[in-house]
Amino acid sequence: APGAQQFIPPQADTLDELRVAATDCRGCELHRDATQTVFGRGDASARVVFVGEQPGDMEDQKGLPFVGPAGRLLRKAVDDAGLDPKHIYLTNAVKHFRFELRGKRRIHQTPDRVHITACRPWLVAEFAQLNPEVIVVLGATAAKALLGPTFRVTRQRGELLPWPAAAQHPEDFQRVPVDSAGATTDAPSAQLLATIHPSAVLRADNQDVAYDGLVADLTVVARALA
Ligand code: URA
Ligand code: SF4
Repeated sequence: APGAQQFIPPQADTLDELRVAATDCRGCELHRDATQTVFGRGDASARVVFVGEQPGDMEDQKGLPFVGPAGRLLRKAVDDAGLDPKHIYLTNAVKHFRFELRGKRRIHQTPDRVHITACRPWLVAEFAQLNPEVIVVLGATAAKALLGPTFRVTRQRGELLPWPAAAQHPEDFQRVPVDSAGATTDAPSAQLLATIHPSAVLRADNQDVAYDGLVADLTVVARALA
């Protein structure tokens, strides 16, 4: 698979430019059956960036991330944890919906490693335009994209970890901010926290317990910002 890199304008210096360019991405096969690219959205100066898996059925139709049931749950959890929902940025590890048709229903399929790898340049490009204090990794797919295949969300969830040192290819994410005089300043030191994906909360046997766990992890994020 060719991957997304060739579709990313090398001179892009805003999220909007990236979002427009991403509409034409054919970096892997997922663009063929999905309706549209679903790029990240939110505040470019967000203190907290959330990385999910991939758009779901509703996101694919609307062209916006986290607008379906998982998104509703996530927004409630953000609120219950005391985070300001206006100052977050939401994106996904993979930007097209992967599904299997069963009759007329489109059933979510977890992206494979090839899709995660192909789409990863968009995530790196987004992070080059963002400067969060905390990155929230929602579930195993986002963890694979950012932290590599050996990271276990279940073992390390709810823990603040150094970013980008925790990332699989930290050099990809190293951003050297340039001030108005053109001088480089110190690279930012963000933190990262992995937690359960909101869709996994919806699928859990005990949804209340799973939801409280998500809120508890996001409360750690809220405290780190205070
Ligand atoms: N699940 C995700 O991971 N991302 C979305 O945008 C919606 C559901
Ligand atoms: Fe491009 Fe990512 Fe969509 Fe694949 S999933 S076509 S790499 S935007």
